[in-house]
Amino acid sequence: MDFSVNHQALAYLLSAILFILGLKGLTHPATARRGNLYAMLGMLIAIAATLLGREVQSYGFIIAGIAGGAVIGTIVAMRIQMTAMPQLVAALHSFVGLAAVLVGIGTFLHYRDAGLLNAVLMGEISAGVVIGAITFTGSIIAFGKLQGLLSGAPVKFKGQHLLNALIGLATVTLAVHFAMTGSLVSLILMTLLAFTLGVTLIIPIGGADMPVIISMLNSYSGWAAAATGFTLHNNLLIIVGALVGCSGAILSYIMCKAMNRSILNVVFGGFGSDSGAAGESAGAQAAEKGVKSAAIEDAVYWMEDAGKVIIVPGYGMAVAQAQHSLKELMELLMARGVEVKFAIHPVAGRMPGHMNVLLAEADIPYDQVLEMDEINPEFPSADVVLVVGANDVVNPAAKEDKTSPIYGMPILEAGRARQVYFLKRSMRPGYSGVDNLLFYQDNTYLVFGDAKDTIDGMNSALKGGGH
Ligand code: TAP
Repeated sequence: MDFSVNHQALAYLLSAILFILGLKGLTHPATARRGNLYAMLGMLIAIAATLLGREVQSYGFIIAGIAGGAVIGTIVAMRIQMTAMPQLVAALHSFVGLAAVLVGIGTFLHYRDAGLLNAVLMGEISAGVVIGAITFTGSIIAFGKLQGLLSGAPVKFKGQHLLNALIGLATVTLAVHFAMTGSLVSLILMTLLAFTLGVTLIIPIGGADMPVIISMLNSYSGWAAAATGFTLHNNLLIIVGALVGCSGAILSYIMCKAMNRSILNVVFGGFGSDSGAAGESAGAQAAEKGVKSAAIEDAVYWMEDAGKVIIVPGYGMAVAQAQHSLKELMELLMARGVEVKFAIHPVAGRMPGHMNVLLAEADIPYDQVLEMDEINPEFPSADVVLVVGANDVVNPAAKEDKTSPIYGMPILEAGRARQVYFLKRSMRPGYSGVDNLLFYQDNTYLVFGDAKDTIDGMNSALKGGGH
């Protein structure tokens, strides 16, 4: 059968519908797997329909590219640690950005040689190349910060915002000049300046804000793809780019709201630091103030006779990979008639849905996993709250201390339970670098150690019939 333009349009429509169903599925953990399958099917159809299209002149390079990419992608996906997911996402966005730059420049050269340039086309190319170049270098800096190759601390200097504004202005001026004249020199200068802007915009942003920035860069990569779609006259790329652009922007907004910050504050605030030194001084202060520590057996003693235990997972659970041990703890407690629930803060961990993904991986039932607004009224009726490697998301400073950098962030009200046990390794603060006021509350105890080891210890104590 001859694969006509109409067939391709129909296939693209089907793909677009599957992508939208995919996004819808990803809005809830219970449907997320199905959502992923829809999106994968959509992508398969999209690739097949594009390859069958008439614009493809030879398959050699395409097949080689797909094969190479598939091998690298498979190896990376199998090796990647869950905690390293944000930097992987950043690395992948950089590829989208670079692709947009290369396609833009390639299309320009092709149309120039064919004598088919026009202002609209060159406007589209400018948009794709500029957004793509910012996404490329910005994502590389984000990757470097999260991977620890670059310092996570904000890099700030005098006149930084002015410098960014000037580079931005010069880039736009060159883009307009290029669109009007088709000058290759303007195109090259514009691209170089946009690469620079990606670096200078992202270096002042602190490690704690990186997930928001990654989601923002995700949005940029979508807009770069959409602009490329216009350049290539590919409707599906326009639709997919717009979907990615919008969902990235919405995600950034949700994260900012959960931290009670504005996107401008994230981009220009220079918030967050490298833990290290700040952590130690906070730890020393805390020790002086007499924080109570407890043994594994103390926590088990109170949990096994409790009516209700609420578990608050945080970034430390991901680091310790404690989710499977937590599942076992949940089962052991439930077998003793204890009601067990999990409380999820929207920015717990280091990426949206981080905790949900890990708990789902351990097959913890969704109906026991509650979002912040649902679980907060339940804390006063909980006998024990077990805070597993979480910190900022339960810090009452967000409500009580107007001078705190996290003031205004909504929190899980763990402190309202009868007893609170923190499982963490040291007195170091969480990602925001802010000391946790909950440590000093009368009903709070710290059980020091790696979260997985501690929970395994709890499980053995429960299995051993107690103490
Ligand atoms: P954090 O406040 O970062 O605290 C994590 C705690 O885990 C630390 O206090 C650390 O203490 C402990 N920990 C680390 N490794 C551990 C291990 N192996 N065993 C036991 N404990 C361990 O985490 P959170 O409460 O999940 O809050 C998330 C933070 O990230 C918030 O500040 C949030 O604004 C920020 N953030 C998140 C996102 C998203 S989308 N999730 C986006 C932007 C920013 P020790 O070192 O003493 O063990």
